[in-house]
Amino acid sequence: MSWALVPAAGSGRRYGADIPKQYLLAAGKPLIEHALDVLLSHAVIEGVVVALAADDPHWPGWSTMHGKPVVTCIGGGERADSVLAALRALPTGVATDAIVLVHDAARPNLHADDISRLHAAALAHVDGAILAAPVRDTLKRADAESNISMTEPRDGIWRALTPQAFRRELLRRALETARADGVVVTDDAQAVERLGLHPRLVEGREDNLKVTTPADLALAEFLLASRFLRKDA
Ligand code: C5P
Repeated sequence: MSWALVPAAGSGRRYGADIPKQYLLAAGKPLIEHALDVLLSHAVIEGVVVALAADDPHWPGWSTMHGKPVVTCIGGGERADSVLAALRALPTGVATDAIVLVHDAARPNLHADDISRLHAAALAHVDGAILAAPVRDTLKRADAESNISMTEPRDGIWRALTPQAFRRELLRRALETARADGVVVTDDAQAVERLGLHPRLVEGREDNLKVTTPADLALAEFLLASRFLRKDA
Protein backbone atom coordinates (compact mmCIF):
# COMPACT_ATOMS: atom_id res chain seq x y z
CA MET A 1 0.00 0.00 0.00
CA SER A 2 1.13 3.52 -0.79
CA TRP A 3 0.43 7.10 0.19
CA ALA A 4 -0.16 9.98 -2.18
CA LEU A 5 1.27 13.48 -1.63
CA VAL A 6 -0.71 16.32 -3.19
CA PRO A 7 0.98 19.74 -3.37
CA ALA A 8 -1.88 22.26 -3.28
CA ALA A 9 -0.18 25.32 -1.80
CA GLY A 10 0.23 27.26 -5.04
CA SER A 11 -1.35 30.69 -5.35
CA GLY A 12 -2.28 30.16 -9.00
CA ARG A 13 -0.71 33.50 -9.94
CA ARG A 14 -0.11 32.39 -13.54
CA TYR A 15 -3.79 31.48 -13.99
CA GLY A 16 -4.96 34.91 -12.89
CA ALA A 17 -8.22 33.93 -11.12
CA ASP A 18 -9.33 35.24 -7.72
CA ILE A 19 -8.91 31.82 -6.16
CA PRO A 20 -6.02 29.33 -6.50
CA LYS A 21 -6.58 27.20 -9.58
CA GLN A 22 -6.91 23.93 -7.63
CA TYR A 23 -10.22 25.26 -6.26
CA LEU A 24 -11.71 26.22 -9.63
CA LEU A 25 -14.81 24.19 -10.49
CA ALA A 26 -15.04 21.70 -13.34
CA ALA A 27 -18.04 19.37 -13.79
CA GLY A 28 -19.43 20.72 -10.51
CA LYS A 29 -16.45 19.99 -8.24
CA PRO A 30 -13.16 21.74 -7.39
CA LEU A 31 -10.20 20.40 -9.39
CA ILE A 32 -8.54 19.17 -6.21
CA GLU A 33 -11.62 17.11 -5.31
CA HIS A 34 -11.44 15.30 -8.65
CA ALA A 35 -7.76 14.55 -8.03
CA LEU A 36 -8.29 13.31 -4.46
CA ASP A 37 -11.33 11.30 -5.50
CA VAL A 38 -9.41 9.29 -8.12
CA LEU A 39 -6.38 8.77 -5.87
CA LEU A 40 -8.37 7.63 -2.85
CA SER A 41 -10.68 5.41 -4.91
CA HIS A 42 -7.65 3.36 -5.97
CA ALA A 43 -6.90 0.17 -4.05
CA VAL A 44 -3.12 0.83 -3.81
CA ILE A 45 -3.59 4.22 -2.12
CA GLU A 46 -3.89 4.06 1.65
CA GLY A 47 -4.16 7.77 2.37
CA VAL A 48 -3.23 11.24 1.14
CA VAL A 49 -1.21 14.14 2.54
CA VAL A 50 -2.29 17.51 1.09
CA ALA A 51 0.09 20.48 1.39
CA LEU A 52 -1.94 23.69 1.75
CA ALA A 53 -1.09 27.37 1.85
CA ALA A 54 -1.04 28.78 5.37
CA ASP A 55 -4.56 29.99 6.33
CA ASP A 56 -6.06 28.57 3.12
CA PRO A 57 -9.70 29.74 3.30
CA HIS A 58 -10.81 27.48 0.43
CA TRP A 59 -9.88 24.04 1.80
CA PRO A 60 -13.17 22.23 2.56
CA GLY A 61 -11.67 20.50 5.60
CA TRP A 62 -11.84 16.85 4.51
CA SER A 63 -10.18 14.48 6.97
CA THR A 64 -11.36 11.31 5.24
CA MET A 65 -12.53 10.42 1.75
CA HIS A 66 -13.67 6.96 0.61
CA GLY A 67 -12.99 5.88 4.21
CA LYS A 68 -9.27 6.69 3.92
CA PRO A 69 -7.31 9.39 5.79
CA VAL A 70 -6.74 12.85 4.32
CA VAL A 71 -3.92 14.51 6.31
CA THR A 72 -2.99 18.17 5.76
CA CYS A 73 0.17 20.18 6.31
CA ILE A 74 1.40 23.67 5.45
CA GLY A 75 3.26 23.84 2.14
CA GLY A 76 6.19 26.04 1.18
CA GLY A 77 7.27 28.76 -1.22
CA GLU A 78 8.03 26.42 -4.14
CA ARG A 79 6.25 23.26 -5.24
CA ALA A 80 9.24 21.16 -4.09
CA ASP A 81 9.02 22.74 -0.61
CA SER A 82 5.36 21.73 -0.45
CA VAL A 83 6.20 18.14 -1.46
CA LEU A 84 8.93 18.01 1.22
CA ALA A 85 6.47 19.31 3.82
CA ALA A 86 3.98 16.61 2.77
CA LEU A 87 6.69 13.93 3.05
CA ARG A 88 7.45 15.07 6.59
CA ALA A 89 3.74 14.92 7.47
CA LEU A 90 3.41 11.24 6.49
CA PRO A 91 2.32 9.06 9.39
CA THR A 92 5.29 7.53 11.21
CA GLY A 93 4.19 4.01 10.25
CA VAL A 94 4.91 4.60 6.55
CA ALA A 95 8.10 2.64 5.81
CA THR A 96 11.16 4.38 4.36
CA ASP A 97 11.03 2.08 1.34
CA ALA A 98 7.27 2.52 0.81
CA ILE A 99 6.24 3.97 -2.56
CA VAL A 100 4.79 7.49 -2.42
CA LEU A 101 2.97 9.04 -5.38
CA VAL A 102 3.20 12.82 -5.85
CA HIS A 103 0.27 14.31 -7.79
CA ASP A 104 -0.52 17.94 -8.62
CA ALA A 105 -3.82 19.19 -7.17
CA ALA A 106 -4.46 20.97 -10.47
CA ARG A 107 -4.51 17.71 -12.50
CA PRO A 108 -8.13 16.57 -12.19
CA ASN A 109 -8.37 14.05 -15.04
CA LEU A 110 -6.27 11.20 -13.69
CA HIS A 111 -7.43 7.64 -14.48
CA ALA A 112 -7.12 4.57 -12.26
CA ASP A 113 -5.34 2.54 -14.93
CA ASP A 114 -2.48 5.07 -15.08
CA ILE A 115 -2.08 4.86 -11.28
CA SER A 116 -1.90 1.05 -11.50
CA ARG A 117 0.75 1.02 -14.24
CA LEU A 118 2.81 3.75 -12.55
CA HIS A 119 2.69 1.97 -9.20
CA ALA A 120 3.81 -1.32 -10.76
CA ALA A 121 6.71 0.45 -12.51
CA ALA A 122 7.80 2.17 -9.29
CA LEU A 123 7.85 -1.19 -7.49
CA ALA A 124 9.98 -2.65 -10.28
CA HIS A 125 12.47 0.25 -10.63
CA VAL A 126 14.57 1.37 -7.67
CA ASP A 127 14.96 4.88 -9.16
CA GLY A 128 11.17 5.35 -9.32
CA ALA A 129 8.84 6.10 -12.22
CA ILE A 130 6.76 8.93 -13.61
CA LEU A 131 3.77 9.22 -15.92
CA ALA A 132 4.77 11.00 -19.11
CA ALA A 133 3.66 11.51 -22.70
CA PRO A 134 5.81 11.68 -25.85
CA VAL A 135 5.92 15.14 -27.43
CA ARG A 136 3.79 15.17 -30.60
CA ASP A 137 4.29 18.70 -31.91
CA THR A 138 7.36 19.98 -33.73
CA LEU A 139 9.55 21.95 -31.34
CA LYS A 140 10.92 25.41 -32.27
CA ARG A 141 13.65 27.28 -30.42
CA ALA A 142 12.86 31.04 -30.37
CA ASP A 143 15.30 33.94 -30.47
CA ALA A 144 14.78 37.10 -28.37
CA GLU A 145 12.35 38.54 -30.98
CA SER A 146 10.23 35.37 -31.14
CA ASN A 147 11.60 34.42 -34.53
CA ILE A 148 12.50 30.79 -35.02
CA SER A 149 16.18 30.20 -34.50
CA MET A 150 16.00 26.44 -35.08
CA THR A 151 13.88 23.30 -35.00
CA GLU A 152 14.69 21.05 -32.06
CA PRO A 153 14.65 17.28 -32.61
CA ARG A 154 11.72 15.79 -30.69
CA ASP A 155 12.86 12.16 -30.80
CA GLY A 156 13.00 10.85 -27.27
CA ILE A 157 11.44 14.00 -25.76
CA TRP A 158 8.62 13.42 -23.26
CA ARG A 159 6.34 15.69 -21.25
CA ALA A 160 6.50 14.93 -17.54
CA LEU A 161 3.07 14.40 -15.98
CA THR A 162 2.02 13.38 -12.47
CA PRO A 163 1.71 11.21 -10.45
CA GLN A 164 5.42 10.54 -10.02
CA ALA A 165 6.30 7.64 -7.74
CA PHE A 166 9.41 7.01 -5.62
CA ARG A 167 10.50 5.28 -2.45
CA ARG A 168 9.83 7.62 0.46
CA GLU A 169 13.48 7.90 1.57
CA LEU A 170 14.82 8.43 -1.97
CA LEU A 171 12.38 11.27 -2.59
CA ARG A 172 13.27 12.91 0.74
CA ARG A 173 16.99 12.70 0.00
CA ALA A 174 16.52 14.02 -3.54
CA LEU A 175 14.38 17.02 -2.56
CA GLU A 176 16.55 17.92 0.44
CA THR A 177 19.69 17.75 -1.73
CA ALA A 178 18.16 20.03 -4.37
CA ARG A 179 17.11 22.47 -1.67
CA ALA A 180 20.57 22.43 -0.03
CA ASP A 181 22.10 23.08 -3.48
CA GLY A 182 19.76 26.05 -4.04
CA VAL A 183 18.19 24.42 -7.12
CA VAL A 184 14.45 24.90 -7.71
CA VAL A 185 13.24 21.70 -9.37
CA THR A 186 9.97 21.84 -11.30
CA ASP A 187 9.10 18.18 -10.78
CA ASP A 188 10.13 15.45 -8.38
CA ALA A 189 11.94 13.36 -10.97
CA GLN A 190 14.32 16.28 -11.63
CA ALA A 191 15.45 16.13 -8.00
CA VAL A 192 16.04 12.37 -8.31
CA GLU A 193 17.89 12.82 -11.64
CA ARG A 194 20.24 15.26 -9.88
CA LEU A 195 21.41 12.32 -7.75
CA GLY A 196 22.56 10.59 -10.97
CA LEU A 197 19.53 8.28 -11.03
CA HIS A 198 17.20 7.48 -13.93
CA PRO A 199 13.49 7.15 -13.11
CA ARG A 200 11.39 5.14 -15.57
CA LEU A 201 9.05 6.86 -18.03
CA VAL A 202 5.59 5.26 -18.03
CA GLU A 203 3.46 6.38 -20.97
CA GLY A 204 0.29 7.88 -19.52
CA ARG A 205 -2.91 9.32 -20.95
CA GLU A 206 -2.37 12.58 -22.79
CA ASP A 207 -5.58 14.00 -21.32
CA ASN A 208 -4.10 13.99 -17.79
CA LEU A 209 -3.75 17.75 -18.14
CA LYS A 210 -2.54 20.30 -15.61
CA VAL A 211 -4.84 23.31 -15.49
CA THR A 212 -2.66 26.38 -16.04
CA THR A 213 -4.81 28.63 -18.26
CA PRO A 214 -8.56 29.30 -18.78
CA ALA A 215 -8.35 27.22 -21.99
CA ASP A 216 -7.10 24.27 -19.91
CA LEU A 217 -10.06 24.68 -17.55
CA ALA A 218 -12.51 24.56 -20.47
CA LEU A 219 -10.84 21.38 -21.70
CA ALA A 220 -10.89 19.88 -18.20
CA GLU A 221 -14.60 20.71 -17.93
CA PHE A 222 -15.28 18.92 -21.23
CA LEU A 223 -13.17 15.87 -20.31
CA LEU A 224 -14.62 15.48 -16.83
CA ALA A 225 -18.24 16.07 -17.88
CA SER A 226 -18.00 13.49 -20.68
CA ARG A 227 -16.21 11.07 -18.37
CA PHE A 228 -19.01 11.19 -15.81
CA LEU A 229 -21.62 10.81 -18.56
CA ARG A 230 -19.82 7.63 -19.66
CA LYS A 231 -19.61 6.60 -15.98
CA ASP A 232 -16.08 5.30 -16.52
CA ALA A 233 -14.69 7.47 -13.71
O1 C5P B 1 2.28 26.17 -10.44
P1 C5P B 1 2.28 24.76 -10.88
O2 C5P B 1 1.25 24.48 -11.96
O3 C5P B 1 3.61 24.18 -11.22
O4 C5P B 1 1.77 23.94 -9.60
C1 C5P B 1 1.67 22.54 -9.59
C2 C5P B 1 1.08 22.10 -8.25
O5 C5P B 1 1.99 22.45 -7.21
C3 C5P B 1 -0.25 22.77 -7.93
O6 C5P B 1 -1.13 21.77 -7.42
C4 C5P B 1 0.12 23.81 -6.89
O7 C5P B 1 -0.91 24.08 -5.95
C5 C5P B 1 1.29 23.15 -6.20
N1 C5P B 1 2.22 24.12 -5.55
C6 C5P B 1 2.48 24.00 -4.18
N2 C5P B 1 3.29 24.90 -3.54
C7 C5P B 1 3.88 25.91 -4.24
C8 C5P B 1 3.63 26.05 -5.63
C9 C5P B 1 2.81 25.11 -6.27
O8 C5P B 1 1.95 23.09 -3.53
N3 C5P B 1 4.65 26.77 -3.59
